[in-house]
Amino acid sequence: MTLKGAGKTETAEQPQQEIPRFGPSVKARMQNLRKILENSFIADLEHHAEIRSTNDRAIECGALADVNLPFLIIADRQTAGRGRGSNRWWTGPGSLAFSLLVGPETVGAAAASTCGPRRSGLVGLAVGVAVVDALAPLVPGHEIGIHWPNDVILDRRKLAGVLIEVLPDGKHVIGIGVNTNNTAADAPEEVRRRVVTLRDMTGREHDSTEILLAILRELQRQLGELVRSPERVTERTHELCLQRGKRLEIVQGERRIEGRCLGIAADGALLLEVEGNPQSVYSGVVTQP
Ligand code: BTN
Repeated sequence: MTLKGAGKTETAEQPQQEIPRFGPSVKARMQNLRKILENSFIADLEHHAEIRSTNDRAIECGALADVNLPFLIIADRQTAGRGRGSNRWWTGPGSLAFSLLVGPETVGAAAASTCGPRRSGLVGLAVGVAVVDALAPLVPGHEIGIHWPNDVILDRRKLAGVLIEVLPDGKHVIGIGVNTNNTAADAPEEVRRRVVTLRDMTGREHDSTEILLAILRELQRQLGELVRSPERVTERTHELCLQRGKRLEIVQGERRIEGRCLGIAADGALLLEVEGNPQSVYSGVVTQP
């Protein structure tokens, strides 16, 4: 277990908003990290007060010979958090950002050679379901679900994002960002209206360690399901898909596909009705026409 940058973030002269909210002190943080290690399926972890991106760090760790998998990297603050495509991810103070490095067998890929984009697409769906199942009990009475491929949406705004990356040897990096105790009021102008946080929605602070543990528990369940019967994961994603019945436009490079969303197919594809015919979409960026 490694704790990085704790001294830096504990100094008295730090301005108020810079104090990380993951734990109030080094001792409390150590206790939280130990609790995560003892109560989840991860084998080891690393905590950073500040880092560029937990996914970047997970990719680095993936190249090390002696890393214990599943390996968790948590950060209080990311200075260059990454989203899908060329998007950036806003990690406001109090938000939860972490990456999990797992072996191919954990995501149901027998060997590196079976780790194609279709498999990582399925992993992304399983992760989306896990995050929804972990967070739904915290927001009773609100609409929570998934926008394909794996955005977690609460009352029409983005609560959490998932970035899956596959290493050449088949290890997967599962990066998750959850808007927990941050506030949309601190977000950059261009994202403010599109995001929602648990704190803004419920009017109270949430225990980041408990949220992380709940997500890890659901992740273990959904990744296990993916190994045993992937169609149960895609069925659940179909149920949770909030785009069903809506008109969507998918951009794939130069190509645009427009149609009515029919949901998620058994093989994980987004199903669109295009000119009366069902069409499967496996990749692309969704834009609302
Ligand atoms: C998206 O919605 O576009 C994906 C966002 C993923 C953000 C998380 S935060 C932890 C991990 N580290 C990163 O740099 N990105 C992911």
